[in-house]
Amino acid sequence: MAMAIILVLIVIASVLFHLLAPWHAAPAASNWGSIDTTLFITLIISGIFFIAITVFMAVAVMRFRHKEGARAAYQPENKKLETWLIIVTSVGIAAMLAPGLVVYSDFVRVPNNAYELEVVAQQWQWAFRFPGQDGKLGKSDIKFVDSSNPFGLDPKDPVGQDDVLVINNEVRLPLDRPVKVLLRSKDVLHDFYVPQMRSKMDMVPGMVSYFWFTPTKTGKYEVLCAEYCGVGHYNMRGHMIVEEQDAFDQWLNSQPTFAQTLTTAAKPSRDSVLKKGRLLAENLGCSACHSQDGSASLGPGWKGLYGRTEQLADGTSVLVDEAYLKESILDPKARLVQGYPPVMVTYTLNDDELGALVALIKSLGAAQQDNEPSASEASGPGDDLATQGQQLAQSLGCLACHSVDGSKGVGPSWQGLYGETVTLADGSTIKADEGYIKESVLNPGAKIVKGYAAVMPAFTPSDKDLNALIAFIKSKANADADASKAQPGK
Ligand code: CUA
Repeated sequence: MAMAIILVLIVIASVLFHLLAPWHAAPAASNWGSIDTTLFITLIISGIFFIAITVFMAVAVMRFRHKEGARAAYQPENKKLETWLIIVTSVGIAAMLAPGLVVYSDFVRVPNNAYELEVVAQQWQWAFRFPGQDGKLGKSDIKFVDSSNPFGLDPKDPVGQDDVLVINNEVRLPLDRPVKVLLRSKDVLHDFYVPQMRSKMDMVPGMVSYFWFTPTKTGKYEVLCAEYCGVGHYNMRGHMIVEEQDAFDQWLNSQPTFAQTLTTAAKPSRDSVLKKGRLLAENLGCSACHSQDGSASLGPGWKGLYGRTEQLADGTSVLVDEAYLKESILDPKARLVQGYPPVMVTYTLNDDELGALVALIKSLGAAQQDNEPSASEASGPGDDLATQGQQLAQSLGCLACHSVDGSKGVGPSWQGLYGETVTLADGSTIKADEGYIKESVLNPGAKIVKGYAAVMPAFTPSDKDLNALIAFIKSKANADADASKAQPGK
């Protein structure tokens, strides 16, 4: 008896909870109505089944209670009951799924006057692109992606030059204008989800998915990644601000176009090309097998290589020129130098990257003409190094866990970290200086800051990258920390 009453009370409480719940959110986008209606249909259908099944249980508990000597009847086949159950559940499931098809087809049938917004995902951050004056997005391809072109836009496509790039986690949209959202991922599956807009779709590497909606209410909405994409997934968040057209236009004008980012990022001076070559040689691991100082290694050393004639394994010889170097990077086994094992893996680099590596090898060439000044270490003043460090922090994903604005993340914020004294998990304290930060990057588990989980994977950047990262972290130090550091130095 008590059990039956509890079951009935559960039903009544659930229904009352739904009817009396105080949450009645105001629609914020055009697709709100249809998507919420679909969800409501599903709620009603599953609600009816929930009530029916729970009440049936209560009745069964009452009617078939245990009596002395009573036995349950065994009824293995009941055609009539089975037929009814199949019909009722089929209709119920169809009624839950069919409206979704209608709503989905509307979700992806974009009106002609829709504005375009491209969302680019990578572990663990968002970036956004708008078409420029011409109203069209330029072509993109993953092969163009590098540190100066994070969107992978085709530098030769005139349509893409005026595209507006938003390289951070906050995007804005104009009020009351339909927007077509194009979704692209650079690495793994992500999912672009703006709950309050009722918009959500997977981002699949190698394809462009899309949907549309019209924001109808100004405000700041949260953007979430809704597909598990690695340790930083939970922190892959952003914001979508919907505002009046005027304010939006003003904001959009303040964002850089693709052409602008290209000219500021890559003034292809000889120095910067060489710098890029060095960075690549380290990041790709070339330096592990190719020395740059003439010492012996697994592959031919680069010093004095360019312009030399090499004996090949098949007995022929070749002049080491640009074409040969490029071929050897793209297809290392094509023409092997005698005396070296065929162990190099194939690298697929774009023209820019190939050019930078070849320029570097050239600069180490036999006839060392004008490269002395640039060979005297390219890492310029601190500012430049810090910028490099910022790029690295972005590409390595550090910023998914370490904020630079003082907000709390999975790891300690970098804002004001350098020079501070931090308390470790074992109760001891340590000053966050170069040595400590280096150790924390290379071996994060060694000294954990109190209050943080030991979840950071070890990174093995080159010395130069490590210095760039530290320069960036230093640049985020508090003014007074800087001062206290400067004084003892004097
Ligand atoms: Cu990106 Cu989860």
